[in-house]
Amino acid sequence: MRLLKTKSELREFTREARRDGGTLGLVPTMGALHRGHLELVRRALAENQSVIVSIFINPTQFDKAEDLAKYPRTLEADMEALGKVDPGLAVFAPDISEMYPERVDADRYDFDGLDRVMEGAHRQGHFDGVGTIVETLLRLVGPDRAYFGEKDYQQLQIIRKLVETREIPVEIIPCPIVREADGLAMSSRNTRLPGPLRQQAPFLYATLQAARALFGTKSAMKVKEYVRAQFADHPDFSLEYIEIADARTLKPVSRKQAGKKYRAFAAAYLGGVRLIDNIALN
Ligand code: PAF
Repeated sequence: MRLLKTKSELREFTREARRDGGTLGLVPTMGALHRGHLELVRRALAENQSVIVSIFINPTQFDKAEDLAKYPRTLEADMEALGKVDPGLAVFAPDISEMYPERVDADRYDFDGLDRVMEGAHRQGHFDGVGTIVETLLRLVGPDRAYFGEKDYQQLQIIRKLVETREIPVEIIPCPIVREADGLAMSSRNTRLPGPLRQQAPFLYATLQAARALFGTKSAMKVKEYVRAQFADHPDFSLEYIEIADARTLKPVSRKQAGKKYRAFAAAYLGGVRLIDNIALN
């Protein structure tokens, strides 16, 4: 496998990959790779001649220094896992100074309100940080396609808006959430859950599934009340938000309309670990 550390190494690789009209897929990650990431990589491999996986823990998208400090750093294990998927992959794992040569700061974006709800409302500056690094990566790599998981559904919608408004010529490919056998959505944060709490974790998805069942007959407000009551009764979980929103605009729904697609989104703390999940409701 090729490990690229600098922008000039990256440029050399993309030039080679582009020779003879080869297509290029990009899978942006922050490392600590799990099966969910590997599914993105497999999909990218199936659809492109060359694939670059970026591994970069982007400081500007963390609103809490503690969360950034605790983020797992596992480059060696990540390289090994990727090598097993395909030794022909290239990994771009730059240092911070390579991505932020002047100052470690995010640009400001207008995401048309997509960033003012849910994760954006609870994590100050998070989506400006995501926008900054994703735009930088897309412009450096210039891929035909870039792959993002629906686990971070709000991020996915924001990245679609980013490429539309900044006219970045790339196809954004959404990939379904990959879950553990007990329903917990795969996340790099799951490894921070000690055993007894890990056993409680499927409660988040189970409650979203119950919400989906209720959404057939009840209003969004009633469904959210139900979810809040379930979490209030749980000894270890603390709910940060539950939202039911239009799947495209992410605007919270008050009255359901025929023909529209809705999703439920939740964030909750289990011990000190923040988990998020979402589910299509119709
Ligand atoms: O989803 C992630 O892991 C990150 O937000 C991303 C897209 C790699 C940007 O740092």
